[in-house]
Order: sequence, then structure tokens, then C-alpha cells
Amino acid sequence: MKPTSHPHTWAIIGASGFIGLRALEGLHDRDGVTVRPVVRAAASLAVLARRRLDWRIADPRDLPALTDALRGCTVCIHAALGDPFQIEQMATIAYQACAAASVRRLVWLSSASVHGQNPAPGTDESSPIHDRHLLAYNNAKVRAERRLEKLSSDGRVEVVRLRPGVVIGPRSRWLTDTAADLRANRAGWLDEGRGVCNSIHADNLVHALRLAATVPAAAGHAFLVGDTEPVTWRDFFLPIAAHLGLPATAFAPATPAALVAKREPALAALTQSRLYQNLGDRVPERTKRLVKALAAAWPDPAPAHDAWTLSRPPASQLTLEQTLLQSCSWKLPHTKAASLLGYAPPVPFAKGLAASLAWLDFAEGPR
Ligand SMILES: NC(=O)c1ccc[n+]([C@@H]2O[C@H](COP(=O)([O-])OP(=O)(O)OC[C@H]3O[C@@H](n4cnc5c(N)ncnc54)[C@H](OP(=O)(O)O)[C@@H]3O)[C@@H](O)[C@H]2O)c1
Repeated sequence: MKPTSHPHTWAIIGASGFIGLRALEGLHDRDGVTVRPVVRAAASLAVLARRRLDWRIADPRDLPALTDALRGCTVCIHAALGDPFQIEQMATIAYQACAAASVRRLVWLSSASVHGQNPAPGTDESSPIHDRHLLAYNNAKVRAERRLEKLSSDGRVEVVRLRPGVVIGPRSRWLTDTAADLRANRAGWLDEGRGVCNSIHADNLVHALRLAATVPAAAGHAFLVGDTEPVTWRDFFLPIAAHLGLPATAFAPATPAALVAKREPALAALTQSRLYQNLGDRVPERTKRLVKALAAAWPDPAPAHDAWTLSRPPASQLTLEQTLLQSCSWKLPHTKAASLLGYAPPVPFAKGLAASLAWLDFAEGPR
């Protein structure tokens, strides 16, 4: 397909994913913007097939292919995900491809987890970030941001980094995973869900993406973005349980007490190594996904004595990520996004969650 040249063509890399797809739905054909979805494989087009779209297929780690896919675009929104090693690589290649294709602005989907899932009270964008988190994902997001800051010092592409927290909306894994845990009788919570959930409805994030793509003063900045209301995990969990006809007691109590630290599983650590990277590029993506799925389904071995370890209450089986998230006591502010971007989240939390639950019914069909 021949690249088109249009002053308001925005590429979305990872347009088949949860956020990429919602961004496409919210941005395409509005305010004179045409969205060009960029996906890694033909199979990823299936979810986009109901619309007539000027799509491209390019692996986000293939510089020449990505450069070709971005030609004629003024803005590139990066919503692809990979393993930790790939996240860092994607940042470099996205910048280089944007520069080579004369894309004016790259909007990079970072994450609030650059500050950790349980950030210290007072944390905002001015707080220093580090790459010594327990979760490799957080560290990769930090390193990706650093790479982009360094690369953009050449002035060839404006970079805006967005740091959303827990993104809720149709197709959100936070919603589908919680519903699945409830149905399987394995849902758990800490302190009855009183921890802070730094939520953001996907449509509020799309609003932030639009501003990040267009507001001149945003260039070079990172922005925390979230819902307006302070939200607890309880506020998120209980409506889901009620929707499924379950009481609050469907969530088993879990205790964080024995959390000291936990090395990530060997597989996750392996994906960050250079050996994996060298081998990984020669292994088909489908094979890698199969191996990861098998590894994820494999029972955890007993923790070694020297491993940092998280004690799991038998009923709830919280992951380390869930434990850290539910221990959070700080609502990350979006004051900077409000003042510099004019960010004003249009979707109230309760309304967004209700609409997401309606989507869940639609997606799962009659029961
Ligand atoms: N979801 C959240 O709550 C949340 C919160 C904070 C930040 N974020 C960030 O937002 C971005 C999008 O997240 P998401 O939740 O929308 O993710 P997602 O639903 O998993 O979508 C990821 C997208 O990346 C593509 N992808 C996955 N692995 C890839 C690989 N190895 N190489 C190339 N492409 C690959 C997927 O393509 P296929 O469709 O072909 O698999 C899909 O289009 C990520 O950067 C994530 O870190 C998400």
C-alpha cells in the first residue's frame, strides 16, 4: 500500500492493543485527524477489520519497516508493549523511525509505574525516578524514558511521555482479570481494598493523548494522568462483584506482612538478558508467545532460601504487582497535565466503570 501524505495523519503503533484500539476509536476521523494503525502482523488487523483504515504492518523493532510505515504522519502515538528488553528497544527505534520519517511529535505511553506501584506520598513528575524496582516492567519503562530524553536532545523529534496508572475501560485486563478471579473464587484484597487505585478511564487517557499530540508546550515533558476522583481498590472491586451478583466477601483477605521483596521469575529476568535478545530475534513471535504462556501456567517452585519472597495467603494468591498496587496510599496528581496541557478528564470514574461493565456483558454474551 502506498503511503499517503496528509498534514493530520497520526500513526498509532500497537493499534490492536487495549489502549491503541481505544485511541484509534476516539481519535480517528475527529478534528481533521486520520489515524493510521501500525500493527506488527497481519493477524493483529483482525480487531481493526470493521473499519476502513489506511493500516501498515511493521514490527516496532524493525527500523526500516517502521520508518516506511510512519512516512507522511505528523504525530506518532506509541502504544505497543513487549517484554522488558523490547520496551527499551522500542523506545530507541520509535525515536529513530520518527526522525527518519520527519514525524514532528512522538507521544510515548510510559506508565505511572516508573514511580513504582506504591509511590511515596508526595510523588509527582518532579520526583526522581530509578531503575531498581522489584518489577522488571517498571525498570524497563524508566530506562525507555531515559533513552527518549537522551535521544530527543538532538531536537529532531518532540517527545511527550504520558504516565497513566491503572487503565480501565472496555477490554481492560484489570476488569476482565478481576471478573475472572471472582468467578473462579480466587479474588483477594488487602485491607478490604482501602488502598488507593490510581485509575484512569481509557477515554480520559485518549483525551490526554489528544492534548499530548497537539499542545505545543507539552514537548519534552512527562505527565502523570489519572481520573479526577480519589479512587480506592474497593471502589473498583465492589461494583464488579455486585455486577456479577457476588457480595464483598467474595474477596478473600490477604496480608502483605511477609512481603520483603521477590526476585521476578527467572523467565522475566531472562528476557532482559542480551543472550535472550540475540536468540530472541531468530525465534518466531508465535513460538515465543507459546513458551511464555506455558511458563506462566507452570506451577511456581518452592522459593529458594536466598530469594526474596512474598508469602501468599492460600485463598487470594495476589501477585507481587497486585500486592504493591493495593498497598498504595498516594493518589498521583495530574496537576501538571491540567496546567500545561489543559487536561480535564471528561469521564467520571463511576460512569466509566458502569460503561465498562456493560461492555463486559456484551463481550461475554448471555450467561
Ligand atoms: N493497560 C494499562 O493499565 C497500562 C497502564 C499504564 C501504561 N500502559 C502502557 O500502555 C501501552 C499499551 O498498553 P496496553 O494495555 O494497551 O497493552 P496491550 O493491550 O497488551 O497491547 C499491546 C500492543 O502491543 C503489541 N505487542 C505486544 N507484544 C509485542 C511485541 N513483542 N512486538 C510488537 N508488538 C507487540 C500488541 O500487538 P498484538 O495485538 O499483535 O498482540 C498490541 O497491539 C504499553 O506501553 C503499556 O506499558 C498500560
